[in-house]
Amino acid sequence: MRTTTTRSRTRLRLAGALAAVLVGAGIATGPTAQAEGKPQTLADLAQKHGRYYGSATDNPELVDEPYKAILGSEFDQITPGNGMKWYATEPQQGVFDWSKGDEIVNLARANHQKVRGHTLVWHSQLPDWLTGRDWTATELRAVLKKHIQAEVRHYKGKIYAWDVVNEAFNEDGTYRETIFYKTLGPGYIADALRWAHQADPKAKLYLNDYNVETIGPKSDAYYKLAKELKAQGVPLHGFGLQAHLALQYGYPTTLEDNLRRFSRLGLDTALTEVDVRMYLPADETKLATQAEWYRDLTDACLAVRRCVGITLWDYTDKYSWIPAFFEGEGAALPWDEQLAPKPAYFAIREALK
Ligand code: G3I
Repeated sequence: MRTTTTRSRTRLRLAGALAAVLVGAGIATGPTAQAEGKPQTLADLAQKHGRYYGSATDNPELVDEPYKAILGSEFDQITPGNGMKWYATEPQQGVFDWSKGDEIVNLARANHQKVRGHTLVWHSQLPDWLTGRDWTATELRAVLKKHIQAEVRHYKGKIYAWDVVNEAFNEDGTYRETIFYKTLGPGYIADALRWAHQADPKAKLYLNDYNVETIGPKSDAYYKLAKELKAQGVPLHGFGLQAHLALQYGYPTTLEDNLRRFSRLGLDTALTEVDVRMYLPADETKLATQAEWYRDLTDACLAVRRCVGITLWDYTDKYSWIPAFFEGEGAALPWDEQLAPKPAYFAIREALK
């Protein structure tokens, strides 16, 4: 983590507090904003660097109008948090339900936002018909191909990038023993990429995982695999680093170098599911450190040419997945539960300016 002086922490906190008051009062904060009379959004600022700034969202939240207003104005990219997963899109074998994904794609199109499709092949949130029985390799290959191609075809031309395979490796860099790996072997990854590419040749195809922000066994496994896939001409275009960070584990100091080594393989990279959780209650010190981390990870992406953008795993603590999954932790996002911007929001803006 970058060493931060007490003075710069204080400066950040004061700037954040002042800006929060100004935003709360409906007053623009930056010089350009003042000149144009309209606050620039994270998306506006990111676009000046040729990047996007996005957020995940989920269907149940879309009845919340104040939430939706910020989602539609502050970001130029959205990712459905659940609506495109296998359990949602193929609840019965061969019976497809695109309603949740469509709702989010339609919202994105209305707001001129890119969509990251999430996710085609994952061991979690699978329908019972798939996990509740044994499959031969021939059967599962056919099921997987049909699922991938039906979904990618349905959204053809509407998805900027797909997380084709999500969370394929264990922490030690061995393959995760998923139903797909156990039945089909590691070749399921190349197959999934090829099938997705056939269905929408223009979509960028990603592998995506968590705990791959630092250089270490897990990100090394992706590096090796990506190199092999590129050498074999498999259509792989990007590597997604989820970046579910936690204050208690320290900042991933090798993030920038890690992004760079994937870029050098000829891949795009993206921070795809960013949040920075902490033990509750949040306090000023923890929020200031969190703000630094958001600034640092934004800086890291901007420093690497092929890091194409950053997506928050929803933008507000109101809809964060963290409290339900990590007891006693939360406050992970740049907007609080009342949809008010936190120091992290202003730190991101500083990094983008
Ligand atoms: O749909 C049911 C609903 O019918 C039921 O009433 C409710 C009661 O708990 O549960 C609902 O399902 C929940 C689902 O989200 C939809 O809201 C599940 O319990 C809950 O476990 C599930 O959590 C999702 C989680 O993935 C599952 O692993 C989170 O919302 C989602 O944000 C999270 O996202 C993942 C990424 O896809 C991959 N990377 C990690 C990230 C965080 O876990």
